[in-house]
Amino acid sequence: MGALFPRWTNSFSRAAGAVVLATPAAAIAGLMLYVRSPLNTGERNPVGQPVQFDHRHHTADEGIDCRYCHSTAETSPHAGLPSTATCMGCHAQLWNKSPKLEPVRAAYFSGQAIRWNRVHDLPDHVYFNHSIHLAKGVGCAVCHGRVDQMAQVQQAVSNQMAFCLECHRNPAPYLRPPEKVAEMDWQPNRDPEELGRELMQKLDVRARTSCTACHR
Ligand code: HEC
Ligand code: HEC
Ligand code: HEC
Ligand code: HEC
Ligand code: HEC
Repeated sequence: MGALFPRWTNSFSRAAGAVVLATPAAAIAGLMLYVRSPLNTGERNPVGQPVQFDHRHHTADEGIDCRYCHSTAETSPHAGLPSTATCMGCHAQLWNKSPKLEPVRAAYFSGQAIRWNRVHDLPDHVYFNHSIHLAKGVGCAVCHGRVDQMAQVQQAVSNQMAFCLECHRNPAPYLRPPEKVAEMDWQPNRDPEELGRELMQKLDVRARTSCTACHR
């Protein structure tokens, strides 16, 4: 027999067997990885926009507060997007010949809102609310990353259930004084756990893990 089939075929068929056995497992593992991967969760996936709006120019460089444009973040479930009138408040004078701002002028004079594409979009079966997070001292950067350094906003975290729950189980280390929520580079000046525990007490923050908190 040994003469009919060279020795390498033995190890070849063993290797082939291992591949066949491993394939279903690999396929499942692959799927499991995929659903959690940035490819599927939309993380770090730039979304095209009708105007090349750059957060770096409008936040870091100009020092405009996030809430100037996302003005309902502290009072409602939705952070909201600025109206064209808000843009024109500056751009009627500033860069008023810029071709990049042509769609903004067109929208303003026609009264048709600019149709921004959504970057974050939770499924309908999930309830989210900005105002409670800001009132309890969760900063924008915790969930959105350093938007002030993004030429184009991208989703910075997965926004999958595990991300929400990780903090809901033990919010302490993520909390800051509520007046600092829009500060992108805020850092605790002492042990975050200890500061967090104090804030939990002061702001009456509880762990919220019941399903109905987010699925109503
Ligand atoms: C001058 C107005 C302005 C300021 C100031 C501003 N933004 Fe925005 N923001 C916008 C506009 C316009 C969009 C929609 C276009 C886009 O996604 O880039 C947007 C989009 C976003 C989005 C994505 C929304 C989605 O579709 O999911 C996030 C998150 C965001 N901004 C966070 C911030 C944060 C955090 C700050 C403060 C550091 C900030 N913004 C400051 C105007 C502004
Ligand atoms: C508080 C004033 C202010 C507001 C409000 C504002 N901008 Fe600006 N914007 C600026 C400044 C200042 C610059 C120039 C920044 C630079 O070049 O560093 C700029 C630059 C731009 C540019 C780049 C222009 C070019 O030719 O390079 C675009 C596009 C733009 N803004 C879009 C918008 C849109 C869309 C909105 C509304 C969602 C908006 N801006 C609201 C102050 C503002
Ligand atoms: C606890 C996490 C968390 C914090 C803190 C947070 N966001 Fe969001 N944000 C989200 C999620 C999740 C969505 C998507 C909501 C949806 O799809 O219904 C979102 C959506 C947005 C949007 C899109 C428009 C909207 O209202 O849905 C903007 C703009 C935005 N956030 C800006 C901000 C700004 C500015 C701050 C701070 C002042 C902030 N966010 C703080 C998680 C957060
Ligand atoms: C970094 C921390 C953190 C993250 C991340 C976070 N949350 Fe929260 N969430 C909180 C805190 C703190 C509260 C306030 C709890 C309290 O008042 O006792 C809260 C409250 C809520 C409430 C109100 C609950 C109620 O019973 O009134 C909802 C709804 C909610 N979160 C949904 C979400 C969803 C959905 C996500 C993920 C997309 C998320 N949160 C991510 C910290 C977080
Ligand atoms: C803090 C908020 C929060 C709590 C509490 C929470 N969920 Fe979710 N859940 C989410 C978010 C956000 C998603 C959407 C995930 C995505 O889009 O990938 C989700 C998705 C789901 C889904 C759809 C499948 C999936 O994984 O996307 C099911 C089923 C679900 N949750 C069940 C539950 C059950 C059961 C509980 C209670 C044990 C619970 N959730 C508690 C935030 C929460």
